[in-house]
Formats: sequence, C-alpha cells, structure tokens
Amino acid sequence: MNLLDQCNVLITGASSGLGKEFARQLAPRAATLVLVARRLERLEALKSELERPGLTIHCRQADLSDRTEVDTLLAWLASAGIPLNFLINNAGLGDHGRFETGEWERTRQMLDVNIGALTRLTHALLPILKAQAGAAILNVSSSAAFFPIPKLAVYAATKAYVSSFTEAIRAELRGTGVRVTAVCPGPVSTEFGRVAERTASPEPLEAPDALRVSAREVVGDALRAVEADRARVIPGWLVALTVAAASLLPMALLRYGLNKRAR
Ligand SMILES: NC(=O)c1ccc[n+]([C@@H]2O[C@H](COP(=O)([O-])OP(=O)(O)OC[C@H]3O[C@@H](n4cnc5c(N)ncnc54)[C@H](OP(=O)(O)O)[C@@H]3O)[C@@H](O)[C@H]2O)c1
Repeated sequence: MNLLDQCNVLITGASSGLGKEFARQLAPRAATLVLVARRLERLEALKSELERPGLTIHCRQADLSDRTEVDTLLAWLASAGIPLNFLINNAGLGDHGRFETGEWERTRQMLDVNIGALTRLTHALLPILKAQAGAAILNVSSSAAFFPIPKLAVYAATKAYVSSFTEAIRAELRGTGVRVTAVCPGPVSTEFGRVAERTASPEPLEAPDALRVSAREVVGDALRAVEADRARVIPGWLVALTVAAASLLPMALLRYGLNKRAR
C-alpha cells in the first residue's frame, strides 16, 4: 500500500496556505489528520469542511514558538496514542526588512517556529514514526534556503537550516523505514507575504508573477516527492531553473546582486 494511503499525519500550520492545502489533499486518503496552529477556529472550520466517514480529525491549538506549548502538544500526542506515520513540518513565518531594524520578538518567533519547533517535533516523534511499517517526514523549506537574502536575512538562514537538517537526517535514517524530504517552494500566494510585512515600515514582499506557483501545485509536487522518496523538490520548473542558474554564479557576482538588494 502507498505510504500516504490510510496515513496518520500531523500537519503544523494547517490554519492557512500550504498547511491547509496539505490537509485538503490528504483528507481523501488519510485515516487521521492532526491539525496544529494557533488559530483554532480556522482549524475547526477546516475540520468541518474535510470530515468524512473513516477519517478522524483532531484540531490542536499550539503556539509553536512557545516551548511549553510544544511540550503540551507532544504530551497530548503521547496520551492519544495515535500511530503517526507522517509528520509535515510546515508552520513558518518570515520578516521582511533589514535585520537591525526588525523587532526582536518577531526574529525570536522565526527562530523558534522555523527551526526550534521543527527540530523538537522531529526529535520527539521519531520513535513513533520508526515504530510504524513505513513513515515519512516532510519539511517545508524554501527556495530562500539556497542563498543569503538581504532583508530576509534570518528567514533565509532558518530555511538553510531546514534544508541542511533534512539532508543530514535523511542520510541517518536510511534503512529505518523513515523517509525524509524537503520541499523548497518559490513564491506562493498565501498569507505569508502579509505576515512577513512589517507594520511600522511596510515593504511589500514582491516576486515576479512568472515565478509564482499555486499552493495546489506545491503541495501536489511535495506529496509526490514523498511517495517517490526524493530528498528534495523545488516546485515549478522556472523556480527550479532559476535556483540552478543562480547556484552557478560566481560568488563575486552573487555578492554584487546581494549588495544591490540590500540598498
Ligand atoms: N508562501 C510562500 O511564498 C512560501 C515560499 C516558500 C516557503 N514557504 C513556507 O511555507 C510554509 C507555510 O507558509 P504559508 O506560505 O502557507 O504561509 P501562511 O499562509 O502564513 O501560513 C503559515 C502557517 O504557519 C502557522 N504558524 C505561524 N506561526 C505559528 C506559531 N507561532 N505557532 C503555530 N503555528 C504557526 C500559521 O498558523 P497560525 O497563525 O494560526 O498559528 C499558518 O497556519 C512556511 O514554512 C513558509 O516558510 C512559503
């Protein structure tokens, strides 16, 4: 049987954007969805939309930037005894603007959600994942992971962590039955841009329309990559081509571009 059929999956950041789309695409195939985010009312609305016989949906409110709330979520999972075989570490946020003028609280949240919670959930849930006949971890990274990006300095660095961490534990977990994949989307129209915009000095997070990929396509590509046990997927051929081309640039030219963006 395909790993995603009858899967028991935990999706972080299921109240919006890609997380919501993961839930929608998995609902027809999964046995259990555990939906996690801060906005519980959104999770409950999604649950009402996706409910069907044979599917159990749990909505769990948690602020993943708060270690105590992550621990509470893990304690609930342990007590519920759900045989999780799929973990989607999707929750994340950005902050658009110069590093030095950013609010520390926002920077802390990015570090704690994008890196801290992803790492903690993976560490705590690995024994459960390994105990299943087949299991997967899907980490939502970004095409921002491939390069330093002025005005998204911390965000890009957190995603570089996600991609690096994913590749390393994928190698460690070879042969254990747990596959590990990173999805590295380019720009997707979700609430991400609005959340990343600063209220004090808003600078819209713009991206060329040609690079935009729909949430449906990103999630479809990501789930197919998990099924095919691929290490990494960059949805959208133009995004993949741009990343590949930019990776070939000499460092001096890349720095010239970075300096221009920083101004
Ligand atoms: N959109 C893009 O252009 C793009 C491109 C590349 C990668 N990504 C990545 O894709 C992932 C999903 O982002 P998205 O585009 O779907 O953005 P989104 O629409 O803003 O969704 C972000 C999700 O993360 C959750 N989240 C944020 N902070 C949280 C916290 N402290 N505790 C718990 N949940 C939290 C939000 O839920 P609550 O607010 O309800 O808590 C929401 O469900 C992120 O990791 C992002 O970095 C996005």
